[in-house]
Amino acid sequence: MIRQMSEEDLPRVYAIALSSLDEYYLPEVFSFFLNQWPGGQLVACSVTGKVIGFICGSRLGPERVGIALLAVERESRRRGAGSELLAALRRRAVAEGAYTVQLEVRIENGAAISFYKSRGFIAAEALPAFYNNGGDAIRMIGATVQNS
Ligand SMILES: CC(C)(COP(=O)(O)OP(=O)(O)OC[C@H]1O[C@@H](n2cnc3c(N)ncnc32)[C@H](O)[C@@H]1OP(=O)(O)O)[C@@H](O)C(=O)NCCC(=O)NCCS
Repeated sequence: MIRQMSEEDLPRVYAIALSSLDEYYLPEVFSFFLNQWPGGQLVACSVTGKVIGFICGSRLGPERVGIALLAVERESRRRGAGSELLAALRRRAVAEGAYTVQLEVRIENGAAISFYKSRGFIAAEALPAFYNNGGDAIRMIGATVQNS
């Protein structure tokens, strides 16, 4: 089940981020996204209601949204939660008039690149030394409305 993120979810969301993402993020980053665009912050829950993943969207302009962060806890991956979070953010973006989704992903992150490609995203641009530790990224672009 996908629902909007709340302040109460932040400790759990932060724990998933720490164990899933390569970059370190301060806890304040998540509060920032929640304040900036509440409707673009979503969590995936198990049948028992436990938060197992999250997506943080950002508004990049009137017609474009960004995926700032996306993660599903390790033991719950490859069961569709990431796809549901992405689809829900796309729907939210459409509802607000945006038709393009953009994100940056680490060039070595083959699993995430496959994930986005099989969900209609294309690699648009190489971003050398994009990350704090000097790692390279790929910028990927997708439509908010999916034809397939
Ligand atoms: C990317 C991520 C959010 C996907 O979440 P998920 O719940 O596993 O996603 P889904 O189950 O909906 O889809 C999984 C898809 O990812 C891709 N994928 C996942 N692991 C993969 C791997 N080891 N090799 C190739 N493709 C892989 C496949 O396209 C797969 O689809 P399939 O299972 O139908 O083959 C999750 O892997 C994750 O949290 N990764 C760590 C954080 C991260 O990399 N975030 C993205 C940064 S931009």
